[in-house]
Amino acid sequence: MKKSRRQFIKTSAVTGIGLAVAPTITFGKIPGPKKLRVGFIGTGARGLAHVRDALSRKDIEVTAICDINPEMLAQAKQYIAKAGQKQAKEYGKNEYDYRNLLDDKNVDAVIISTPWLWHTPMSVDAMKAGKYAGVEVSAAMTLQECWDLVNAHEETGTHLMILENVNYRRDVMAVLNMVKRGLFGELLHFRGGYQHDLREVIFNNGEQRYGGGILFGEKAKSEAQWRTLHSLKKNADLYPTHGLGPLAVYADINRGNRFTSLTSNATKARGIKNYIVKNAGNDHPSAQLDWKLGDIVTSTIETAMGETIILTHDCNVARPYSLGFRVQGVNGITEFDYYNSRVYIDGKSEAHKWDEAQKWFDKYDHPLWKKYENEAKGSGHGGMDYFVLNAFVESAKQNIAPPLDVYDAAAWSAVTPLSERSIENNGMPQDFPDFTRGKWIKRKPFNWLNDKF
Ligand SMILES: NC(=O)c1ccc[n+]([C@@H]2O[C@H](COP(=O)([O-])OP(=O)(O)OC[C@H]3O[C@@H](n4cnc5c(N)ncnc54)[C@H](O)[C@@H]3O)[C@@H](O)[C@H]2O)c1
Repeated sequence: MKKSRRQFIKTSAVTGIGLAVAPTITFGKIPGPKKLRVGFIGTGARGLAHVRDALSRKDIEVTAICDINPEMLAQAKQYIAKAGQKQAKEYGKNEYDYRNLLDDKNVDAVIISTPWLWHTPMSVDAMKAGKYAGVEVSAAMTLQECWDLVNAHEETGTHLMILENVNYRRDVMAVLNMVKRGLFGELLHFRGGYQHDLREVIFNNGEQRYGGGILFGEKAKSEAQWRTLHSLKKNADLYPTHGLGPLAVYADINRGNRFTSLTSNATKARGIKNYIVKNAGNDHPSAQLDWKLGDIVTSTIETAMGETIILTHDCNVARPYSLGFRVQGVNGITEFDYYNSRVYIDGKSEAHKWDEAQKWFDKYDHPLWKKYENEAKGSGHGGMDYFVLNAFVESAKQNIAPPLDVYDAAAWSAVTPLSERSIENNGMPQDFPDFTRGKWIKRKPFNWLNDKF
């Protein structure tokens, strides 16, 4: 249901937020739209995928695009032309030109797909400008940034969605269906993580995104321009949300549950240096750098409801892709992946034997996937990108809180700074901030079994 200004102020009074800033609350900027007018900030690899998916929907008009790289802006224009749609207004004269896009009256909502360090400043500015904001993962890199997101939302009443597409993967949603229907019983333990050899992404030859080569920094292309530097400077779980997002939703985090503490440990760092030596020799200057990121970072998170989560970041050594999910309750367990998935449900599976997962995942196929399977065909990452965009658009059209909201963005992204601090301190436990300021106790879980978004 659409939340009126009055209802918001009522809620704010109960929860003790917002009243001091009530005059600046912006509402109703999104006209009960026929079409949601969306601006895209960042039209690199990911932003272009969002533009392409947006152009295939009848309820979106791509009214503005912004990128400081003219080549990427030109590609977005080509997509729009190919789709036979009216050209969007262009921004990108400098790093802050996105603020002019945010002033654009023809933009109701924005999708931010820029390098990580831009996510929070751009999201905060978007909320302040009253634009319904969708931000790519992760949403923030420091605890202060996590709070900045929450504060901007509470002060402005404008919503932010973290665009975590893995939450909408078909098997992830089938397991969600099973979790919410209680098949695993009371939940105890989860595992997941980002386990993806990214070395061909964070290094290239400056001409092609995956062209081989060992360039990084200004002259490199796409993520090698900016992502690699994080591995040079930081020892932390740099990319927690693909693994954590689904698990957080299973565990009702921020809605009756919350993360309470985290410990992290890192292995030695070998993968990046080995890659450079193999491709450019031991004498290459990049091989002499002190790459900080441990090859495998393992964090254990505790929740208020007594569950544990083991989260892994493993992106710099040779290995096949896997998010390595495990969900375990008192009545059952699943371990699932693209290639190897299994389920055991006590009393339904043969004692001590795994079932092949597909029969369970077919039976508990999520209503959204059943309904929109055809629409999702052809959209990115096996279709899950269709659903994350759909959730964003349906929430923005009604100007309601999205399913993956600002509190989720803050709590999931906080793993990066907390893990960095824990690793620095020999695995010392770090308290998780309660970004809901106590509201997690009463916040109701989102209705994840709906068939709309
Ligand atoms: N959810 C997913 O599956 C998924 C997949 C890939 C990337 N991502 C995330 O998406 C984001 C973007 O990644 P990418 O692969 O597209 O990177 P990219 O480097 O290809 O694209 C980033 C774009 O942002 C532009 N940019 C940088 N600063 C800007 C500014 N101040 N104003 C306007 N434009 C600016 C760059 O010119 C570039 O074109 C990252 O956060 C990444 O982690 C998510």
